[in-house]
Amino acid sequence: MPYAEYIAWQRECVAEMCRIIKDDGAIFYNNKNRVQNGLLEDRGEILKGFPLRQIIIWKRSGAINFNAGYFLPTTEQIYLLCNKAFKLAKGANKNTDVWEIKQEMKNPHPAPFPEELIDRIISSTTGKIILDPFAGSGTTAVSAKKFDRSFILIEKSLKYCEMAQKRIDGGDWRQRDVASREISLPIIF
Ligand SMILES: C[S@@+](CC[C@H](N)C(=O)[O-])C[C@H]1O[C@@H](n2cnc3c(N)ncnc32)[C@H](O)[C@@H]1O
Repeated sequence: MPYAEYIAWQRECVAEMCRIIKDDGAIFYNNKNRVQNGLLEDRGEILKGFPLRQIIIWKRSGAINFNAGYFLPTTEQIYLLCNKAFKLAKGANKNTDVWEIKQEMKNPHPAPFPEELIDRIISSTTGKIILDPFAGSGTTAVSAKKFDRSFILIEKSLKYCEMAQKRIDGGDWRQRDVASREISLPIIF
């Protein structure tokens, strides 16, 4: 997607998320910085004007750096956007704003979150309904269930919807060929 189109699309997504959260609701938005044509593209353009309260640094383990032009990136940002009345769950404020959590290695989805990361987010809030509009393999649902929260997942790939469904149901979801079809409609289940 051309850069300007991508920024506009992500701004639309964030605006919709802001529209639907409650007065004490929050959004944990992760979107990696990138280097394009030798220059840093951060996410300030996407988040400009939205109610950003804090930037959490997710420190993951290293990977292979194929680019000789910059140091190996090992951090990502999680932007906490929220309405004024949002408060962390009791005791969660003892965590710092740097979270050292290894990335997920055993999940066949190409860009999964580690369960521990989502556990940290969900357990830090009192939200009863958790929405993940880019649900992938369904890590958010697994974590939401653990903390007795309801969840809504949206995912455009039928393959990943089926993977998430199997995972939630406790089936063998790690097979790489869970489904071969791809559709481009959002699905809520
Ligand atoms: C980074 S992955 C999420 C991985 C997930 N957190 C996990 O742990 O498995 C982003 C997901 O968003 C999905 N996606 C991309 N564009 C989408 C759209 N317009 N609507 C819904 N899902 C979309 C992709 O198919 C991909 O599975």
